[in-house]
Amino acid sequence: SQRTLVLLKPDAVRRGLTGEIISRIERKAGWRITALELRTLDQDTLEQHYGEHKGKPFYEPLVEFMASGPVVAMIVEGERVIEGLRQLAGPTDPIAAAPGSIRGDYGVIVRENLIHASDSEESSAREIKIFFPGRA
Ligand code: GTP
Ligand code: MG
Repeated sequence: SQRTLVLLKPDAVRRGLTGEIISRIERKAGWRITALELRTLDQDTLEQHYGEHKGKPFYEPLVEFMASGPVVAMIVEGERVIEGLRQLAGPTDPIAAAPGSIRGDYGVIVRENLIHASDSEESSAREIKIFFPGRA
């Protein structure tokens, strides 16, 4: 099976939606949360995590937003969990995300789109190393 790195972003924590989002993940058959921590991300961690977007116009406000309050960082394990969590989250722009997806149900703003989930096996391995180095 696969592992993926999930972040419930500061907007999800501030709005009290973490329980709701975690419930959706837990209900998927066979998926398990194997690490979970509430933490405020520092600049260095965010630069590593979102390095691919450095130089893009949305990068600076994205990092500022991601450091604006605690996130819930998780490792989720299970069958096809990388693709599955991207599907559960919905597209980056919440207005383009279908109702029923996390972003489609709760989001409006592209930046404040509630959840991050690794987009490939390669990203997952890289991101788990950043957030849970002991579990890499
Ligand atoms: P993550 O799971 O957070 O990585 O989202 P993603 O994979 O759906 O999107 P991507 O990696 O392309 O972008 C990372 C994050 O930057 C997004 O989740 C948004 O919060 C933000 N972002 C991406 N594109 C834009 C954009 O065009 N405008 C703004 N304001 N924010 C963006
Ligand atoms: Mg991404």
